[in-house]
Amino acid sequence: MPDSNRRNFLLSTAALAAIAASGRAGQPSTKPEPINKPEPKALKPDPVLEKRKFGNTDMMVTVLGFGGAEIGFQQTAVDTVKTLLNSALDAGLNVIDTAECYAGSEESIGAAVSHRRKDYYLFTKVGHMDGHSATDGWTKGSIAKSIDRSLERLKTDHLDLVLLHSCDKATLEKGECIEALEAAKKAGKTRYIGYSGDTIHAQYAIETGRFDALQTSVNIADQECIELTLPKAKEKNMGVIAKRPIANVAWRYDTKPENGYFVEYWNRLQKLAYDFTQGEARQDQGPKGAAGTALRFTLAVPGVHVAIVGTTRPERWKSNAQMLHDGGALSPEQFKAIREKWAKVSEGWTGQT
Ligand SMILES: NC(=O)c1ccc[n+]([C@@H]2O[C@H](COP(=O)([O-])OP(=O)(O)OC[C@H]3O[C@@H](n4cnc5c(N)ncnc54)[C@H](OP(=O)(O)O)[C@@H]3O)[C@@H](O)[C@H]2O)c1
Repeated sequence: MPDSNRRNFLLSTAALAAIAASGRAGQPSTKPEPINKPEPKALKPDPVLEKRKFGNTDMMVTVLGFGGAEIGFQQTAVDTVKTLLNSALDAGLNVIDTAECYAGSEESIGAAVSHRRKDYYLFTKVGHMDGHSATDGWTKGSIAKSIDRSLERLKTDHLDLVLLHSCDKATLEKGECIEALEAAKKAGKTRYIGYSGDTIHAQYAIETGRFDALQTSVNIADQECIELTLPKAKEKNMGVIAKRPIANVAWRYDTKPENGYFVEYWNRLQKLAYDFTQGEARQDQGPKGAAGTALRFTLAVPGVHVAIVGTTRPERWKSNAQMLHDGGALSPEQFKAIREKWAKVSEGWTGQT
């Protein structure tokens, strides 16, 4: 049900309930109506999110997207994914990012929202290892097969963007994997093509001039790209997706996390020691707390168009959207302070895949 209809439905339901509660439904009135009946509660409107033009493409993306890794790796129930994605789309989300190797994420997204395909841009990735060995994932044949399989799993006839999932520079130089994406674009299976990755590999991918978009790690604990790749991507008018945009919330761990994925950022945050990732600010869900400041930093980085925050919780997308709406843009002073801290302690820190 569209939002305005849903609101009207709730209002009229509340009015009927009030009549029924008075015990006079359908009875002629003997007394005048009390004039100060409580008003039905107004529903809080959905937060309005900024949209940015995604590089040289025709896409206008909401700054807060959805990252599909967690729902796959954490095996989130399909019913939960349905609630999560449909409520986020109702509230304004229009970018869903996934990958063929995210352990069931594509299937869940297909089951949850393929019936409303026009409401979102759909990005997926190829070349990793789901169904391939590490070495054969980058051939023309395996990429073509992978794209067909993604279309099937996502229950759609086209993707908006397919990205190579972090192959190295040497693989890119061979050209075969890029040609495979170009062939898929020509065949109408994807509207745009991109590269997902970091460091010198992303740098090379941008220099080829053959990609419409870049997905790269950018956050308070991963800023190499701000000088190394993002200015070049901007020059080429590429769409830019920030992955790991809130640094995996690595500040949530009191001691070094066991899961290796979080360790590098956790170590970096110990050294960076931002005031907003310490003490009570760690839990603060307002725009000035740790998550709010981290996300607003990522979205203040020049050239970034969309931050794909990963989550398994149905309420998360909307509450993060509200946080962005309430907080607005990060101040130039705070942005500068975060950049200065990074400059002081980041020697040798490179972009994390
Ligand atoms: N191309 C690549 O190689 C690559 C690599 C990594 C990631 N990615 C993409 O980027 C997406 C995002 O990356 P990511 O998931 O690794 O990192 P992330 O978005 O920085 O962090 C995700 C974590 O943040 C938590 N979270 C979200 N909002 C929060 C808030 N307001 N307060 C506290 N915790 C919050 C989520 O937990 P809850 O479940 O509790 O919300 C989740 O555990 C992935 O889903 C994937 O699509 C791509």
